[in-house]
Amino acid sequence: MILTHTPMLLLPCVSSVRVWSPAKVNLFLEVIRRRPDGFHDLATLMVTIGLYDALVFRPNSSDVIHLECDHPGLSTGPENLVCRAAQLLRDRFAIRKGVSISLSKRIPMAAGLAGGSSDAAATLAGLNRLWKLGLDAHALASLGAELGSDVSFFFHGPAAWCTGRGEIVEPLRPGQSLRSLYLILVSPDMGLSTASVFKALTLSEPPREGVAIQEAFRKGDITALGRAMYNRLEEPAMRLSPEVRRIADRLRETASLGVMMSGSGSTVFALAQSAAEAGSYARVVKTIREDGIQARVHVVRVCI
Ligand code: C5P
Repeated sequence: MILTHTPMLLLPCVSSVRVWSPAKVNLFLEVIRRRPDGFHDLATLMVTIGLYDALVFRPNSSDVIHLECDHPGLSTGPENLVCRAAQLLRDRFAIRKGVSISLSKRIPMAAGLAGGSSDAAATLAGLNRLWKLGLDAHALASLGAELGSDVSFFFHGPAAWCTGRGEIVEPLRPGQSLRSLYLILVSPDMGLSTASVFKALTLSEPPREGVAIQEAFRKGDITALGRAMYNRLEEPAMRLSPEVRRIADRLRETASLGVMMSGSGSTVFALAQSAAEAGSYARVVKTIREDGIQARVHVVRVCI
């Protein structure tokens, strides 16, 4: 069952299933090439972090999918990835049953943290349990790939080297010292659309390989990890969002270990080696707010 391999946590009750769905960050993201289908081939190191949305799945007496969410800015219609994941299972397995889903949103949206993809993965996992479909992690991951490039990763966490669109997932074993790694995440209120960041990207240099970051990650060498972090999408995202540039500049003035944007942004994170060091970022956060940037800040650990 997928629970043994993933930080997604499923709690089955008598008649409902609760799933905690984690966010991710990209410690490395290289864009290899633009593909004829309009997507890009990537090479990326993703790791889940201790910031979660929560979903509860309850059977209902109708034959419809009903989603409610505590975040007023998120549409709960059929285009929501949660509804699309539920509908995909119903179509694929000819299920007539309805379900009521409640989503508590904590992961910032359009922030490069894959909150929507993680919610979709949690929906596949939760309904697999509720509807007793008996699908294994591999089957769920390939259904996930139909919904979005990042969804499959969540069935193979907590860390993986992902290629293709992002859906080819090779789990990575993290070094033990990464347990003491803290991340300070700064997510500006103004998010970024993944499609527009990819559109703003110009590929001129040959791609980086990412050997050094994989080695640092396996060894748990935090200093080497910080040095090897990279994100090809940071430059186009900064062109689109002065807030992302300003946040990264401010964090880099203080960070000793490394600062990087996650995914297609807009979250920028800094590494810290202890809770005390993470706490020292409070001053930087204050200067970011004094610059007039509205942002949510989280201090989290990687889920390993
Ligand atoms: O797969 P997902 O829905 O997350 O992708 C959102 C958009 O990001 C795509 O429509 C595409 O424009 C861009 N994208 C890409 N290459 C990838 C992943 C996403 O160009 N590997």
